[in-house]
Amino acid sequence: MEKNQDFSTYLTEKLNQNDLDAYSQKLNSLNQDVNIRLEVFLTAKKKYHHQLITRHEYQQAKTSYQEAKANYQELIKIKAFKNNLTNINGLLKATPQSDPSYQTVVNEQKAAQKLYTEFKEVVKSQGRWGNLEKLSSTAVEIKNLAFRYDEDQPLVLDDINLKINHGEYVAIVGHNGSGKSTLSKLLIGVLQPDEGSIKIFGNLMQDSNVEKVRQFVGIVFQNPDNQFIGSTVQDDIAFGLENHRVDPELMPEIIHRSATRVGMENFLDKEPLMLSGGQKQRVAIASTLALDSDIIIFDEATSMLDPKGRREIKEIMVNLKNEGQKTILSITHDMDEILNASKVMVMNQGKLVRFGDPATVMGDKEFLRSIGLELPFVSMVEDALNNKGIKVQEGAKNLAELVDHLCTLK
Ligand SMILES: Nc1ncnc2c1ncn2[C@@H]1O[C@H](COP(=O)(O)OP(=O)(O)OP(=O)(O)O)[C@@H](O)[C@H]1O
Ligand SMILES: [Mg+2]
Repeated sequence: MEKNQDFSTYLTEKLNQNDLDAYSQKLNSLNQDVNIRLEVFLTAKKKYHHQLITRHEYQQAKTSYQEAKANYQELIKIKAFKNNLTNINGLLKATPQSDPSYQTVVNEQKAAQKLYTEFKEVVKSQGRWGNLEKLSSTAVEIKNLAFRYDEDQPLVLDDINLKINHGEYVAIVGHNGSGKSTLSKLLIGVLQPDEGSIKIFGNLMQDSNVEKVRQFVGIVFQNPDNQFIGSTVQDDIAFGLENHRVDPELMPEIIHRSATRVGMENFLDKEPLMLSGGQKQRVAIASTLALDSDIIIFDEATSMLDPKGRREIKEIMVNLKNEGQKTILSITHDMDEILNASKVMVMNQGKLVRFGDPATVMGDKEFLRSIGLELPFVSMVEDALNNKGIKVQEGAKNLAELVDHLCTLK
C-alpha cells in the first residue's frame, strides 16, 4: 500500500488549491480502502466465528484493515496546511507595512487562511468519520414518503407524513404487512424512498450521507439469535464500535458502561450459548447504547421472548424513556406496550392512519377493531366493566391503576 509519506512529496512549499485537491483525492481513496478492508474484516470475523476460515486468515483480514485505518488516520492528522498558515502568519508579522512586498504577503496570508478552513472542511466531510451535526431537535421528520419493493407492486408505504421530537417514545402498531418494518428499514437507510423525504435531526437522508445519518439511529430486531455476532458479550458490543471506528483504547470503558445499563456487566465473557433470549436482546440494546445512537428502533424486540424476558426488555425501554435522552420507536404487536408510549402510530395498508397520544388513539375502539387491532388488556377490561353497567373512567395505564380507580368507586 502507498504510504502517506509519499503524499508529502506532492506538496509544494507554499500550499495552494492544487495541493488541497490532491489531498482530498488521496484522503478519499484511503477512506474507500478502509471501507473495503473493513467489509472484508467483518465478513472474516463472521466466518471465523462459524469456523469457516482459519484463525490465521481472520488475523490477516484484521491486520490489513488496521493498517488501512492507521494510514487513513495518519493522513487526517497531517499538519501541512496548519503549518502553511503558521509560516505565512510569521512572515506577515515580520514584514513592515512599508515593505514593498507587504500587500503580497497580506494576500498570501488570506489565501493560506482560506486554504486551512477548506482543509478542515475536507477532513470533516470526507469519509465516515466526519460527523453530522444535529440541525434540529426534531428527531425524525417524514414528508410525503412513498415506497414500493417492485415497480409492478402496490405501494408498501403510501404518503407518510410525521414529526417525532427527540425524547419521545413512539409505539408503532398495525396489522401484519402494514409496512412497519419497511418504514424502519427506510429510517436506517437500508432502503431508499421512491418519493418524499426523511430528515434525521434536520439532516436530509440521501445516498451520499446514509452512513453518517446512521450514526443517529440504532435498531434492535426481533430474533435475538440473528443479532449476536461476537463470540462473547464483550466481543459483540465491540463489533459495533469497531464498525464505527471507535478508538480501541476507549472501548473497554464504553462496553462496561453500556452493559451495566442493561444489567449485563457480569456476563461480558459469556458466550451467546450461555444466554437466554432476553439476555441476548439486552446485549443488542447495549450495543446500540455503546454507539450512543440518539434514536433506537425496536422492531418487535420482545415478541420472541418468554414473559420474563419480555418484562425485562420493556422495563429497559421504559427506563430509557424516563431518562429522556433517547428517541424510541417501538414496533409492536403487544397492545399493552402502547400505554408506555408518549405517542402511538397506527399503520394500515401502508398508510399512517392515526398518530397521537395513547389515550386518544385507544379511545377510538371501533376504528381499531375495524382494522384488525386488539385493544390493550386494560382497555378491554374497562370496556367489559362499562358494558356490565359498572361505569369506570377509561384511560388507565395498567391494571394496577384500574384497580386503584375501582377502589374509589362507590
Ligand atoms: N423484501 C421484500 N420484497 C418484497 N415485498 C416485501 C419485502 N418485505 C416486505 N414486503 C411486503 O411489504 C409489505 C409490508 O411488509 P412489512 O414487513 O413492512 O410489514 P410489517 O408491518 O412489518 O408486518 P409484520 O407485522 O408482519 O412484521 C408486505 O406486503 C410484505 O409482503
Ligand atoms: Mg415487521
